[in-house]
Amino acid sequence: MKIFIDSAKLEEIEKAACCGILDGVTTNPSLIKKAAEELKEEGETIDMEGYIRKILQAAREVPVSLEVIGTSYREMVEEGKRLFELFSPVAGNVYVKIPVNPSLGSHGEAAFDGIHAIQELSRSGIPVNCTLIFTPEQALMAAKSGARIVSPFAGRVDDYIRAHHAISFEKSDYFPTSGWKTEDAVLEDDGIVSGVDLIRQCAEIFLRFGIKSEVLAASLRNPRQVREVALAGADIATLPLSVIERLLVHHQTQEGMARFVKDIIPEYADLARGRRK
Ligand code: G3P
Repeated sequence: MKIFIDSAKLEEIEKAACCGILDGVTTNPSLIKKAAEELKEEGETIDMEGYIRKILQAAREVPVSLEVIGTSYREMVEEGKRLFELFSPVAGNVYVKIPVNPSLGSHGEAAFDGIHAIQELSRSGIPVNCTLIFTPEQALMAAKSGARIVSPFAGRVDDYIRAHHAISFEKSDYFPTSGWKTEDAVLEDDGIVSGVDLIRQCAEIFLRFGIKSEVLAASLRNPRQVREVALAGADIATLPLSVIERLLVHHQTQEGMARFVKDIIPEYADLARGRRK
């Protein structure tokens, strides 16, 4: 499974890109806002174009998703082409991110605009990552319209199920893959019992029908969820830097390290440190 970093902070992207583990970067308007606010707090003025160029270079040729902000077919296609033409020459690694359905109201007045824009951009040779997916049906529609990557938001499914049933939680809390069981039912959102279940259902459908689009598990909050989306068939997991770091942590690794360090004998230390007599 590929690992992407879900961040627009240059320092975080540079840190994750150092060790050969980074396969891509995802950004969105909220992540850009967070990064910009941090820079402003540090007293820096923001040259957004220059900043994004630095992100693309820091990513070292792995794909970087940049999201459109429009909510209509026309705006999204214009913005997608603009972002791609402006930034693709930097490192040849731009994906344009398009919401599966940009409707802001509940009636889905722009229901087709997302997939229409995906089709248009894909036909012009621009790779698209389709975002804000919460059902396998949306994933299927996004793939059919030409998206190379489809991004179901696993963690937000778990948030929704908990919030909808007045269960208090921290964002990073583990949520059971097989669903939250009460005395008489398993809580669900229209047949989806957890974020990992959403990923599994998308991956199964893609496998069954030979769909080539990659399933990117987004909105992941803890290492166990990363393991579970890998087992569920995700092609990609996008993670905040804090979760990437936690993939390397286990208390027994630390305990083991402490013991090894304590047991070092001088003769072996001399040898390892090049102090041969
Ligand atoms: O990639 C999508 C991600 O940024 C959303 O994460 O934690 O806000 O649900 P979160």
